[in-house]
Amino acid sequence: MKTRKKILLAIVVIFLLLQLPFFGPKKNYTDAKPVNDISTAYEIPNDIQMSLNKACYDCHSNYTKDYPWYSYIQPISWWMNKHIVEAKKELNFSEFTTYSAKRKARKFEEIVEVMEEKSMPLKSYLIMHKEAELSEQATTDLITWAKQMHEKAKQTLDSTTQK
Ligand code: HEC
Repeated sequence: MKTRKKILLAIVVIFLLLQLPFFGPKKNYTDAKPVNDISTAYEIPNDIQMSLNKACYDCHSNYTKDYPWYSYIQPISWWMNKHIVEAKKELNFSEFTTYSAKRKARKFEEIVEVMEEKSMPLKSYLIMHKEAELSEQATTDLITWAKQMHEKAKQTLDSTTQK
């Protein structure tokens, strides 16, 4: 066999081996009830909750609802998993109530920032998830809501630091 063919064959074999379930990252899904979810502590109108669910929760919660077929292919699944892990480290709506008062206030501020900059949801995600794209109206509503929640979180913060 020619060297080039051997190399090609090796690449194909490695690729196929990587597809073994053993190498796949754990799926971001839990059966546990979301007891620390943001909705247990903050008022979230229905339309806002729907926007968060469809545009943010796949990465920023413990419940990724939609794993498309290509998410089972390595190394795509690692790449996707890395996004979820990093996203949850920054902001996890399912664990929101466990954050300190200061962190909560800061996170609402960041939500306003990313929505104004239009940097979230990630562009790479939107290519494959057209349904996650928020309309201008939904974006504005989300910003208004996050600003209100930021005020509320700041008040709690001020009252706790005064003590
Ligand atoms: C495809 C996954 C994905 C989706 C969907 C997504 N995010 Fe993110 N988000 C990330 C990642 C990864 C980070 C951390 C790295 C970074 O900042 O780029 C992040 C970071 C953030 C941060 C931290 C602050 C900052 O400046 O980086 C905020 C706030 C945020 N996202 C809000 C949102 C909101 C609100 C939505 C829904 C409208 C959303 N994200 C949808 C992946 C995602």
